[in-house]
Amino acid sequence: MTMNVLVVGGGGREHAIVRALASDSRNVIFSVMAKRNPGIAGIAREVLIEKETNVPAVVRFALTRGVEYAVIGPEAPLETGIVDALEDNAVGCMGPSRAAARLETDKAFCREMMNREGVAGCPKYRVFHDPELAAGFILDSEEEFAIKPIGLTGGKGVKIMGEHLDREEAGRYVRQLGGEVVIEERLIGEEFTLQAFTDGKTLVPMPLVQDHKRAFEGDQGPNTGGMGSYSMEDHSLPFVSENDREKALEIMYAAVHSMARLGQPYKGVIYGQFMNTARGPMVIEFNARFGDPEAMNVLSILESDFSEIVAGIAECTLSSRKVEFSRKATVCKYIVPSGYPETPNPGEPFSVHDYGNARLYYANVEEREGMLYTQTSRTMAFVGIADTLSEAETIAEHAAGSVKGPVRHRKDIGTADLLARRCAHMKEIR
Ligand code: AMP
Ligand code: GLY
Repeated sequence: MTMNVLVVGGGGREHAIVRALASDSRNVIFSVMAKRNPGIAGIAREVLIEKETNVPAVVRFALTRGVEYAVIGPEAPLETGIVDALEDNAVGCMGPSRAAARLETDKAFCREMMNREGVAGCPKYRVFHDPELAAGFILDSEEEFAIKPIGLTGGKGVKIMGEHLDREEAGRYVRQLGGEVVIEERLIGEEFTLQAFTDGKTLVPMPLVQDHKRAFEGDQGPNTGGMGSYSMEDHSLPFVSENDREKALEIMYAAVHSMARLGQPYKGVIYGQFMNTARGPMVIEFNARFGDPEAMNVLSILESDFSEIVAGIAECTLSSRKVEFSRKATVCKYIVPSGYPETPNPGEPFSVHDYGNARLYYANVEEREGMLYTQTSRTMAFVGIADTLSEAETIAEHAAGSVKGPVRHRKDIGTADLLARRCAHMKEIR
């Protein structure tokens, strides 16, 4: 089907969303983004450069351009109620209401909902609102914990004892956060991402993806927004059994159905980040949107008409739509400023050379007079698509290596070595 559609957001994820919508050239695409993403700007009919959380400005733009549907990329506008405002003005949305988005935007709400509703996969947790109580709880215990600020932090606020912090540092960290934290058991295992389209009733799963949060090769260094990700031709991962995958999907069903029961129906994309542990998949977190980079893996191999899926979600008729992905492996590698994430070097020129048949998705990059400059966040991503993971990795790595300038990427994402390590770790704990 064809539509006038607004895409909110200007990162690599949103470039992938725009490109998927543009695969039907009859769709008319509008974009709102805080900074001009040259990839999106090159496709959209019209771009509004505006903060994505400026809801009145977004609604005005949508209404004056005859927008029928909107796809919300990032979480920040969901938290400000952009879906509620657009739907009040008869724009159908792929994305949850502000209340339903709390599944991501309020980590305490998420855990308490899972606990109360009996949703499986919830680790042991405690919610604190007081810095001294939170610090005391950590200092008096002998266990290791994950420490999570309750609100949104762009994926960078979570610290894990035994990885990022010792006990004393953990005590200081929760004080520094003002005590508004969820402290939960540290889960041991291998992480994977399961995303699903949902209209609030039906869930349609997408291929499994593994993201890489750490800045450096071998999973060293600080957490980032995600340095890259891969998916396999069979849409699974070798350290996730069919039973694990089914359990993860059941957990996501249970979460979505609980939200409906609570009178806050959830629709859009639900993103489950799981730790596959000795006792099966446990929920690290839910996100209320596509993952970035994971969107680039799945949307690059979506065979079905994405605009039909968007309409199916907005109109709660998803169940009748067919959603298919091609049986290809994908490897996504982000190029980032060399000092990212702690001391990024914005405004540095760099150049892209022969990137073969990889797909290029722009992210936080400035294009000025035909030149490209880094900004403070992830710069651009390449996705290799092939029959096997190894071929997809070669394509992505060659493309990433073609970029010249003060940038870097993780060379290990999608390699056989890294995969073997993941599998060995899983074997060890099970
Ligand atoms: P998040 O911002 O919730 O995605 O967390 C960032 C990263 O912290 C995750 O990708 C995990 O690697 C790690 N993490 C979060 N929660 C836990 C947990 N309960 N146990 C172990 N690691 C965790
Ligand atoms: N890839 C992690 C995220 O989008 O939150």
